[in-house]
Amino acid sequence: MMASPDKSLEAVLDDAVYMPPPTPAIADDPVEAAIPAASLPAAAVAAASPLPDRAPAAASSSSSDSGSESSTSSSPLRPGDLGGDADAGGACLSSSSDDDEERDLVARLRQQLSIGDEAGVQLAKEALLPSFDLAGVAQLIQSGKAKRIICMCGAGISVSAGIPDFRSPGTGLYSQLQKYNLPYPHAVFELSYFEKKPKPFFRLARELFPGNYLPTPTHYFMKLLHDKGLLLRCFTQNIDSLEKQAGLPAEAIVAAHGNFDSAKCIRCARPHPVEHVRQAVFAGDGGNACYCVKKSCGGLVKPEIVFFGESLPPRFWERAPLDYSEADLLIVMGTSLAVHPFAGLIDYVQPHVPRLLVNREKAGEAVFGGGLLGQQKGFTFGAGNYRDALYLGDCDDGVRQLCELLGWQQELDALVAAGRQQLEAAAQQAEAKS
Ligand code: OAD
Repeated sequence: MMASPDKSLEAVLDDAVYMPPPTPAIADDPVEAAIPAASLPAAAVAAASPLPDRAPAAASSSSSDSGSESSTSSSPLRPGDLGGDADAGGACLSSSSDDDEERDLVARLRQQLSIGDEAGVQLAKEALLPSFDLAGVAQLIQSGKAKRIICMCGAGISVSAGIPDFRSPGTGLYSQLQKYNLPYPHAVFELSYFEKKPKPFFRLARELFPGNYLPTPTHYFMKLLHDKGLLLRCFTQNIDSLEKQAGLPAEAIVAAHGNFDSAKCIRCARPHPVEHVRQAVFAGDGGNACYCVKKSCGGLVKPEIVFFGESLPPRFWERAPLDYSEADLLIVMGTSLAVHPFAGLIDYVQPHVPRLLVNREKAGEAVFGGGLLGQQKGFTFGAGNYRDALYLGDCDDGVRQLCELLGWQQELDALVAAGRQQLEAAAQQAEAKS
């Protein structure tokens, strides 16, 4: 039986549906531009933020809920949240004016809003990072103020290992599924579609089964954070288990979308060895559906990767409220932040917690929602920024540069080399045995 998701957290995350970004310009010098601009929106956002109030409630109800039953539809990933209209979304508050009067007004508003919130968290008035880039984050870590770091990862961190992501145009998995005649690409991961037409998933599973891929420097960067006692948790959407391969212990990982470590019947929930699925998938020319060993059941058996229409694993609901309320730095890497509820977690760290996005493109940018002060969800990289750092580029380059700034470069290189050597030796041994 699956544990019931935490309703409070679910409600918070369900609220966190992004409208796609209004493509705000990033200022040439984000520090210069953002600090004055941060004043009003940051204070307003902090004042309006539900997080300090909701986090403890969510945490306690999560613990008490875990272990109870759930239905498979109670906390679905929502395909409706995939992508969207790039022109939609609210406007960012402008910060470009140098007008003294405006600065004055902003300063007075800041003062009026400096009242502290109910949880005793000081309203954010100042920039929380010396600069909104890798150097700013490196300084924060060096200062000892970031000791409980959450890493959130997506498919982009495994791209340099040779595993395609989902949505990159041309190279992403969703642009390569024409051969399966799907009504739309993500139908292949939809429970209702799978129940009617399981073959496309089983054919695709030949490509998805974790193979001889080696973890990337980004995976080893998380291992390095862990070894230094700085990693609170790695929340990953990836089903390739490369975090584990890089040496992160199970305790350090929340596999939010499951993985291929286990399999079960979708009708009677009977667990099956993953090998049972592997044999069906790789037999003959492949793509055979895999069925429950209990003949009277006859249900389909699938690896426990989370499909659209299924609940996320109990561990996600148990850990998220606790960890996100405790984190002091959030690092988001290689994800389009298009799929909820995972994507909504970026808003679940406290308002005084800095966040870093390392990605080829901007993702999860803020829009202003309703409410008196305009409740903000998502990253703010331009006007109004007070805590969000951005590195646009490949994850491996980003983490290498961050390590260089921290003086950790050699340690990272050593981890990568030793880790890969170990995995290659193990693979050779396994091959020799078989
Ligand atoms: P996406 O494919 O949606 O997003 C990958 C992001 O990584 C994109 O923004 C890319 O630009 C970026 N990217 C690609 N390569 C990169 C690199 N080398 N360095 C930095 N950034 C890079 O993948 P996810 O966000 O992980 O669900 O997708 C979320 C979920 O959607 C998946 O877990 C999957 C899918 O439907 C399930 O399987 C249930």
